[in-house]
Amino acid sequence: MFKAFTNNPTAANKFIKHDSDMLSQVYGSDEVTPYWIADMEFPIASPITQAMQHLVSRETYSYEFDSEAVFAGISAWNKKRHGLTLDMKSFVQVPGVLSAIALLIREFTEKGEGVLIQTPVYHQFRRLIESAGRTAISNTLKIENDRYVMDYEAFENQLRDENVKMVLLCNPHNPVGRVWSKHELEKMVEIAEKTQTLIVSDEVHGDIVFDGADFTSIASFDYENTITIIGSPAKNFGLNSISNGYIYTTNSGLKDAIKATVASMSLDHGNAFTTYATIAAYQHGEEWFNQFVEYTQNNRDWIMDFISQHMPHVKVFKPEGTNQIWFDFTGLDLETGALKTLLVNDAKMALTPGTWFGEPDANFYRMNFAAPLEQIQASLELLKSAVMNLNK
Ligand SMILES: Cc1ncc(COP(=O)(O)O)c(C=O)c1O
Repeated sequence: MFKAFTNNPTAANKFIKHDSDMLSQVYGSDEVTPYWIADMEFPIASPITQAMQHLVSRETYSYEFDSEAVFAGISAWNKKRHGLTLDMKSFVQVPGVLSAIALLIREFTEKGEGVLIQTPVYHQFRRLIESAGRTAISNTLKIENDRYVMDYEAFENQLRDENVKMVLLCNPHNPVGRVWSKHELEKMVEIAEKTQTLIVSDEVHGDIVFDGADFTSIASFDYENTITIIGSPAKNFGLNSISNGYIYTTNSGLKDAIKATVASMSLDHGNAFTTYATIAAYQHGEEWFNQFVEYTQNNRDWIMDFISQHMPHVKVFKPEGTNQIWFDFTGLDLETGALKTLLVNDAKMALTPGTWFGEPDANFYRMNFAAPLEQIQASLELLKSAVMNLNK
């Protein structure tokens, strides 16, 4: 059963997200509630805990993995949840989503060539592109009717004119929370097909979709120049430390090249932790997962209502998927430093600055709402008081 409770003792003093030194370094204070890193604040599904406990109780950590069983688990899950039929022979296992992206950039582009990203987007994309010596080409998303949409015209021009060899898609999109519709993806694929540009789709948040949104994997398209990073149970089952990822392509040329490189680096298999955790999650975790999605959807709805009722000058973009919500504080009319002070010192919230994601406007922030509702309510009450003191 899914559980959410405030002051979760297992969450306290965890490295990175809750780490006092990290918080002080980034926010100038550790007296903040962390809403930045995309870790959830809930205890994981008990079948996974049991599998891990069983593993530890055996007191042996041999070379142990079963990629076939893992691929079968992922395939069955995707069939059931998304109606997606995956071919077991088209998977390549890798140690994580980011390592998959880094590897694909190196495998399929040359130094100096362009990799297109749709900004604002998960900040590690740019880092991976630039650290590989490639050029990040920013295709800025547009806002239409309070919703982010793709700029197809710019996309087409950039593919033609800016030496773009790969499109790195984020679906569902972190941080703006869009779950790209089939129609939107179709338009994108159609353009990529004209220039025969490779699309790599990071779908690590693919299962976290809310009512009304229908997740479409790039793997469901006929276009042969696509690679899907199906992701892992990391985001949806709170297993970020049990890092693993799955590359999927039915294009045998692409797959053979990826397989050869991954094997040459001995990165082509998991370990006992990834194997048992993944199988437990996908085979026995669905009840927990459904409750988790329902709970976080309720958090999302509560945040949307609270902001619209009490802070009409704050804009918030309703996420269709992911546990991230995107704020625009422009309406508060504050200087960058004053806004930071309000968020950190008054609301005591550690939100991720939008500038990290390539958003030029410092009024944007991302909040991870995979947290107990009572905690979110307390934080937003503080925010409300701080905003009321501005007479807004
Ligand atoms: C879109 C996206 N891709 C990748 C990752 C990280 O994946 P991994 O930890 O498997 O490298 C994240 C983490 O937040 C993410 O949001």
